[in-house]
Amino acid sequence: MKLIKQLDIVSLLLWCILLFNLIENISSYYPCLDSIEGPVIYPNDTQFPPLIIDQNIRVNYTPSVLVYAINNNDVKKAVICAIKSGTDIVPRSGGHSYEKYGLGGRNNTIVLDVSFINVVTVDSERGTVRIGAGNRLGDVYNKLSQAGFLIPAGSCPSVGVGGHALGGGFGYFSRKYGLACDNIVSMEMVDSKGNLLNISNSNRHRKLFFALRGAGGGSYGIVTYFEFSIHRKPQKVTYMSFEFDRTVKAQVQQLFYAFNKVGPSLSNDIGLKLRLRKDLLSITGVYLGPPRQAKKAMRRFLCDAPKPINPIGTQYIQKTFIESVETLSNSSKYDVFSPKHNPNFFKVKSFYINKGKALNETAINVLVDYLDKAKCTTLASFDLYGGVINDVYYDKTSFIHRNALYCLQLEANWKYKERDDQCVKEINDFGKEFQSNFTSPFSYQGFIDRELDNWQVRYYGNIFGKLIDIKKEYDSCNLFRFPQSIPVMI
Ligand SMILES: Cc1cc2nc3c(=O)[nH]c(=O)nc-3n(C[C@H](O)[C@H](O)[C@H](O)COP(=O)(O)OP(=O)(O)OC[C@H]3O[C@@H](n4cnc5c(N)ncnc54)[C@H](O)[C@@H]3O)c2cc1C
Ligand SMILES: *[C@@H]1O[C@H](CO)[C@@H](O)[C@H](O)[C@H]1NC(C)=O
Ligand SMILES: *[C@@H]1O[C@H](CO)[C@@H](O)[C@H](O)[C@H]1NC(C)=O
Ligand SMILES: *[C@@H]1O[C@H](CO)[C@@H](O)[C@H](O)[C@H]1NC(C)=O
Ligand SMILES: *[C@@H]1O[C@H](CO)[C@@H](O)[C@H](O)[C@H]1NC(C)=O
Ligand SMILES: *[C@@H]1O[C@H](CO)[C@@H](O)[C@H](O)[C@H]1NC(C)=O
Ligand SMILES: *[C@@H]1O[C@H](CO)[C@@H](O)[C@H](O)[C@H]1NC(C)=O
Repeated sequence: MKLIKQLDIVSLLLWCILLFNLIENISSYYPCLDSIEGPVIYPNDTQFPPLIIDQNIRVNYTPSVLVYAINNNDVKKAVICAIKSGTDIVPRSGGHSYEKYGLGGRNNTIVLDVSFINVVTVDSERGTVRIGAGNRLGDVYNKLSQAGFLIPAGSCPSVGVGGHALGGGFGYFSRKYGLACDNIVSMEMVDSKGNLLNISNSNRHRKLFFALRGAGGGSYGIVTYFEFSIHRKPQKVTYMSFEFDRTVKAQVQQLFYAFNKVGPSLSNDIGLKLRLRKDLLSITGVYLGPPRQAKKAMRRFLCDAPKPINPIGTQYIQKTFIESVETLSNSSKYDVFSPKHNPNFFKVKSFYINKGKALNETAINVLVDYLDKAKCTTLASFDLYGGVINDVYYDKTSFIHRNALYCLQLEANWKYKERDDQCVKEINDFGKEFQSNFTSPFSYQGFIDRELDNWQVRYYGNIFGKLIDIKKEYDSCNLFRFPQSIPVMI
């Protein structure tokens, strides 16, 4: 019942509708799943409905069965069962795909959930950690921090490391330590024949190693374990926050001027997110060191604008590393240690703004105007890239966005299902025009967006063909697929 308590009224209502629909379904039974050691849960089970509800309640799908694998053998059995029974199989880690691709983006699949494959074993001699693909980021930060280490990853504690690292994985520590995918040393993956592969840059699966680090979510196989390189956590971390007067349009322009101009050359110890909404203009950030140094490192940013930027609220607070994780995700210690969902209706568009092509005054005005007038409340967040993210050579991983100044995430939020169509259309229409008028043609595959046109190029640029070749080599029958997976042919 604990799961249910976490859902608010809206999702509870949705759950009831779902449950009602399910009772009418006659579920099919898979004898070949009987020997699985972990829980196998069919739709007629009372536990089932809450297990397919996640952060995103705008879209949902009903699998034929949920398989909670507890080891590699369970995963192999499930894949072989899927092949034999002619049913589609889909991997799920944290279930946080923006389009519910952790449920396949369609009904009636076997969902192979890896939540119980969740060890975190540090090898401090080698400087690596073995992480089960079912861990949530909160657990990863927590367990690693206790051992004195970190891996760079996103800020939301309930995101699964599986889908996250395979799609890139950006966070506040990425300018210093890279993306989550940049820190992968090797992986174990069950392929489309049910074989377990160990994949690294130094064995015969080198090409697959390339494909999995950026384009890996759901297209090539089921990753069960990651080996990441680890970094010693800094002793002192500074949480930084600046509030600005959103009603002064000139101040918005000043801030972007500084962000564009000074952002790329800021110290790699700094991570920054700028937020802009109808009623909000703020920067949240982190400095990997004590407050005194943080202030120094930020001085240029706050002074280099044509007119000095004057925040109406400024905070530099010294924290331990794990405290900074809590604060940056705006969650309590409990939420980091025991991550939970926060179900709501939302739709996200993403845009890369590349170095030398910063958003100009016109673009900012167009955006501000949209945020002011949009019928559905919309937040624009700008994650500052640069640092070691941009040092990785374009061809080394399948995450191609190595020339970005920042990534803009546009997120519309609403409270009632009836508004779905209106809010989705509004942000889709604006996003399309804004991208073609002002930003690069590229978008972040980690913020996956089902209605995005030409996504093949926006996500993967000119390596898309190479990704198809690798797909053909490892999954020629296209067992692992979803509406935006890497296909076996163009
Ligand atoms: C609240 C929230 C905050 C976020 N914050 C950030 C952020 O700070 N930085 C950032 O970069 N991204 C962020 N994201 C995006 C997030 O990284 C992606 O949505 C990611 O794909 C989620 O991974 P998951 O395992 O939770 O999702 P899932 O839905 O389980 O999986 C996502 C996709 O990966 C596939 N997949 C999952 N597990 C495996 C596996 N073991 N092997 C192979 N394929 C697999 C699934 O089939 C699916 O296609 C955020 C998302 C949300 C909802
Ligand atoms: C639920 O469905 C499965 C698969 O069809 C079946 O084996 C099981 O007996 C059903 N359980 C109940 C309680 O109806
Ligand atoms: C998926 O199943 C649900 C409930 O069983 C149903 O309401 C929905 O329409 C189905 N979706 C598709 C795309 O068939
Ligand atoms: C892959 O194999 C190497 C060499 O045996 C080993 O060190 C590594 O831990 C393996 N990777 C995973 C994720 O199991
Ligand atoms: C942080 O959480 C609190 C309470 O949950 C909420 O009121 C506040 O708006 C959140 N702040 C941000 C920046 O999301
Ligand atoms: C994009 O440019 C076109 C053509 O100049 C213009 O009509 C449209 O309003 C612009 N839209 C946005 C969102 O910038
Ligand atoms: C702003 O940038 C857009 C896209 O690069 C360009 O078309 C436009 O002319 C620029 N406007 C100004 C005022 O520089």
